[in-house]
Amino acid sequence: MKTTMSETPSVQDGLYQRAERVLPGAGLGGYSLPEHARFVIDGARGARLISAEGREYIDYVGGAGANILGANHPQVVEAVQRQAAKGLHFFGTLNSTAIELAERLLGLIPCAEKLVFTTTGSEATAYAMRIARAFTGKEKILKFEGAYHGNHDYASFSQFPTAPANYPQASSDSGGVPAPLKDTMLIAPYNDLDVVEQIVRAQRKDLAAIIVEPVQRVIFPNHDFLPGLRRIADENDVLLIFDEVVTGFRLALGGAQEFFGVKPDLASYGKIVGGGGPLGCVAGREDIVDRTNPRHKGKSDYAYINGTLHGNPVAAAASLATLELISEPGFHDGLNARAESFYLEMQGVLDRHGLPVRVTGRASLWQFLFSDKDPRNQMDILASDLERSMALDLALLERGVYVLPNVRRFVSAVHTDQDFADTLEILDTTCRDIQSL
Ligand SMILES: Cc1ncc(COP(=O)(O)O)c(C=O)c1O
Repeated sequence: MKTTMSETPSVQDGLYQRAERVLPGAGLGGYSLPEHARFVIDGARGARLISAEGREYIDYVGGAGANILGANHPQVVEAVQRQAAKGLHFFGTLNSTAIELAERLLGLIPCAEKLVFTTTGSEATAYAMRIARAFTGKEKILKFEGAYHGNHDYASFSQFPTAPANYPQASSDSGGVPAPLKDTMLIAPYNDLDVVEQIVRAQRKDLAAIIVEPVQRVIFPNHDFLPGLRRIADENDVLLIFDEVVTGFRLALGGAQEFFGVKPDLASYGKIVGGGGPLGCVAGREDIVDRTNPRHKGKSDYAYINGTLHGNPVAAAASLATLELISEPGFHDGLNARAESFYLEMQGVLDRHGLPVRVTGRASLWQFLFSDKDPRNQMDILASDLERSMALDLALLERGVYVLPNVRRFVSAVHTDQDFADTLEILDTTCRDIQSL
């Protein structure tokens, strides 16, 4: 990474100076990289991002998981251009691209009998919670410690804990969230069915739903966890919501539902379903999703849903092109197998250097953890040496491997063997230095 002491700022430093004046922390959200590692993206080529200074980065951030085909797959770009020429945006009346997409999604999402479009994954989880409350007439939602469901108020509890919680009490992650909401959110540790069952039994009269990331960040579920949640939800008259914003269309074409063989009542989608554009959805049982039917306006079990960009035709076109490409036979098996053999090769490099790092993950989701075991819950993540994994990630980033420190990352279908080979070589040289980090 270029650092310059010259009087005239580099192109990139100039962009950062401009960004500092107009964007808090010179960022686009929750991440702020240290000065020596940060860069401005100008474009993409396959799985390589090109910085404003023309430097290449091998991209494992993948648009936070949206870019399973890279940032500018030619077929997706062409579909977007074609649709843009017909119209960028309409509202209030159906558009034919959105109808075609809804039909396609109903054929792919196992639990989907009907769906409603949203603009983002956050909206999709917020609406899933609202629909569950409207349908059951109950107010509380159980979420898991360390789970991320987006940026809205109800999701902003116990996402970033630093110590074990007093379950089921939620802790707030953000200023500005009204205090009474805290009592509507219940928290349980991921992968612990006993605690979940105790909480659900005690709260069933007020509990509308359990919401779970089927793979929580990079933590995979124990084999009985998701079936156990299904059973507990059924036995206690509570709905089960899968947040498939990351896992949807990634683990398998049918997402976590197909990969783990468990069907929720509702599922929220974002990221891949938008093909890189602003589109998400909530899909699920017809009787539940129908609570959003505008013909029910005025009834107490009607759940209001609306958004200027819902079903946006350009995003829908990007989605249809993406779905076509990832529906090719063997797409997910091939992606997952290539990713997993890459993890083994990375593990080999780390082991040769005697670093106590684990490449944790499966399918196309992974992360480095300084730990001797795969994590089962958020407390296992906190027990790992997060300072050292952050140092390793930042050292890789400086050397041209784009990972965000201590954030789960992705392999995409456009990573080539050369991308993997270059990454392994950079990891090897980084490991020589990391001993002293
Ligand atoms: C599991 C999960 N749910 C919801 C969201 C929120 O999606 P969005 O950023 O599109 O609002 C994210 C985003 O990273 C996510 O990972």
